[in-house]
Amino acid sequence: MSSSVAGAGEESGAAAPQGPAPVERCKGVNGLEKVVLREVRGSSAEVYLYGGHVTSWKDEHGEELLFVSNKAIFKPPKAIRGGIPICFPQFSNFGHLEPHGFARNKTWTVEADPPPFPVPISSKAYIDLILKPTEEDVKIWPHSFEYRLRIALGPGGDLMLTSRIRNTNADGKSFSFTFAYHTYFSISDISEIRVEGLETLDYLDNLQDRARFTEQGDAIVFESELDRIYLGTPSKIAIIDHEKKRTFVVRKGGLPDAVVWNPWDKKAKAMADFGDDEYKRMVCVEAAAIEKQVTLKPGEEWTGKLELSAVPSSYYSGQLDPDRVIQDSTVPEDSIS
Ligand code: BG6
Repeated sequence: MSSSVAGAGEESGAAAPQGPAPVERCKGVNGLEKVVLREVRGSSAEVYLYGGHVTSWKDEHGEELLFVSNKAIFKPPKAIRGGIPICFPQFSNFGHLEPHGFARNKTWTVEADPPPFPVPISSKAYIDLILKPTEEDVKIWPHSFEYRLRIALGPGGDLMLTSRIRNTNADGKSFSFTFAYHTYFSISDISEIRVEGLETLDYLDNLQDRARFTEQGDAIVFESELDRIYLGTPSKIAIIDHEKKRTFVVRKGGLPDAVVWNPWDKKAKAMADFGDDEYKRMVCVEAAAIEKQVTLKPGEEWTGKLELSAVPSSYYSGQLDPDRVIQDSTVPEDSIS
């Protein structure tokens, strides 16, 4: 059974709408609840309430832009392999919690009441989710929080995620966290793509005990396993896929770091929920806040924004001079609020 949802979570009681509904709630794999967003020009996205996890983002021609493994396990407590897992309150094992935190394997709720911030003006294809800790969560991370996640499709098919995390501790205690939008992009061939916008920056190499290095190449290319946390990155990063004649542009706000990851063949084989050759068709570029933890006092709120677009090939190639883009403002407020 499926139902249309008007705006941020209101059930539509009207007769069948003309054309597909901008927001539809239905069942996904293994009966897990999901939300389908559809923009009038044809782009779409799918979000599982399990994990608050985007599992699909298609352009107006119906082409899938995110990678999800054919072996992904859509069954709690395993996080879905691919799409956009939310890493909170911890990225990787920077801390004592399970790697990448618990938000990616909790079931989120569609906000019943309009959230305390404006609705998007340019699109009806959005959904507001909320995550609050359970008693079980409090045992492993003793804090009270409200995490509001808005997922929206823009009129041009851009995918926008806004995280608002508020400290609701009643005991006067601050809390700190690290965070990432662990985005898996679908690409033609890992050996053929380049990631631009991170050149000359320092990074921590996860494959060398997080030793610090400075990027020397004029772009990141892939010849073997790569797992790095780039620090103090500009607000725009490009993934250039010549074969697909497509460039992904990652724009971010409130998220200074960027993780770049490809497991390559050996690690691919070691992952039960990932096909042996699938590493060739994916790359993770993850907007993140890792090196400096985010700290919130009670009543304080943090916002982290991600905006993804897919543009025709070479559009950004050679234009991502870090000195130039570093001065760029972060993702504009009105584009995704
Ligand atoms: C990346 C990390 O973000 O996620 C890698 O940098 C990690 O070190 C990868 O292997 C996948 O993590 P997981 O927990 O989803 O298997």
